[in-house]
Amino acid sequence: MRIGPYQLKNNLVLAPMAGVTDRPFRQLCRRLGAGLAVSEMVSSNSLLWGSEKTRRRADHEGEDEPRSVQIVGADPAMMAEAARYNVDNGAQIIDINMGCPAKKICNVMAGSALLRDEGLVARILEAVVGAVDVPVTLKIRTGWDPAHRNGVTIARIAEDCGIQALAVHGRTRACGFRGEAEYDTIAAIKAAVRIPVIANGDIRTPGQARRVLDYTGADAIMIGRAAQGRPWLFGLVDRHLRTGERLPDPPLTVIRDLMLDHLESLYAFYGEYVGVRIARKHISWYSKGQPGGAAFRQAVNRCEDVTEQLALTRDFFDRLIERVGLAA
Ligand SMILES: Cc1cc2nc3c(=O)[nH]c(=O)nc-3n(C[C@H](O)[C@H](O)[C@H](O)COP(=O)(O)O)c2cc1C
Repeated sequence: MRIGPYQLKNNLVLAPMAGVTDRPFRQLCRRLGAGLAVSEMVSSNSLLWGSEKTRRRADHEGEDEPRSVQIVGADPAMMAEAARYNVDNGAQIIDINMGCPAKKICNVMAGSALLRDEGLVARILEAVVGAVDVPVTLKIRTGWDPAHRNGVTIARIAEDCGIQALAVHGRTRACGFRGEAEYDTIAAIKAAVRIPVIANGDIRTPGQARRVLDYTGADAIMIGRAAQGRPWLFGLVDRHLRTGERLPDPPLTVIRDLMLDHLESLYAFYGEYVGVRIARKHISWYSKGQPGGAAFRQAVNRCEDVTEQLALTRDFFDRLIERVGLAA
């Protein structure tokens, strides 16, 4: 897939997830097969730009190109300013969030709440596209609620405003994360516009990726939650889409080593105090479904020290590997 001047290595995109897709996780997913990884959203409120959180979100050192940074807000001038600020800080693609259902975001009429006001959508898109000379992409839901699925109208507005790719989560704003994603609106959007369309929502396996691509005709797929604790999923999907093969998850020894590397990169990025805390949720995802996982997670959540957290995690996986070895 191509976004402006950038030819991606494949059509697999890591979804932006606040609190998850920090630089270490984006780098990991890209190393393991994602063609593009969108950053966590950055507020368009410039009062927040000096904060530690926003500074970290704008840190792209060593990150693969193209670097896509997501911005969120409801004021065209502020969004334009946020786009310029992030391009000055290394963003090579600006992604606009009109997909987030979070109350914190929607109460200020940003994120998916904007889908209700098509005029405002157009003003924001025009302002941002006009403010920067990098490609601007947009992420939406299928509409405001099941009775107002205006995704096709929004997609046409986006195309007219110069948006260069459109990601669509197959739920409405009102659906939150409930029910199953629907792909009919995504297919209708793909048929209505010429810009690349990225299908998103509930894609968890290589087979689902294939089916969603075929059903919607989309140019690419975006994966969010299924990559948590399973960043190698992108490699499995990539292989399946290219060859039809269905590879198993990597062996536990490989998972252990890439997880320990991931933890080290979190400590380096956040510092030890914050790093240990951020690492907890990733460790929890990696160990989900493994025997003894619940007791292990309790111990990890109590632990405040880097060396101890690493040792606990390594021991847990070493014991799993030993068990599998004995069972073989
Ligand atoms: C923890 C979490 C944080 C998210 N943060 C964002 C965000 O910052 N911006 C955004 O556009 N979507 C955000 N989303 C939505 C995802 O990008 C994606 O659209 C959604 O999870 C559906 O895809 P999935 O079924 O593959 O997870 C978030 C989702 C989750 C679970």
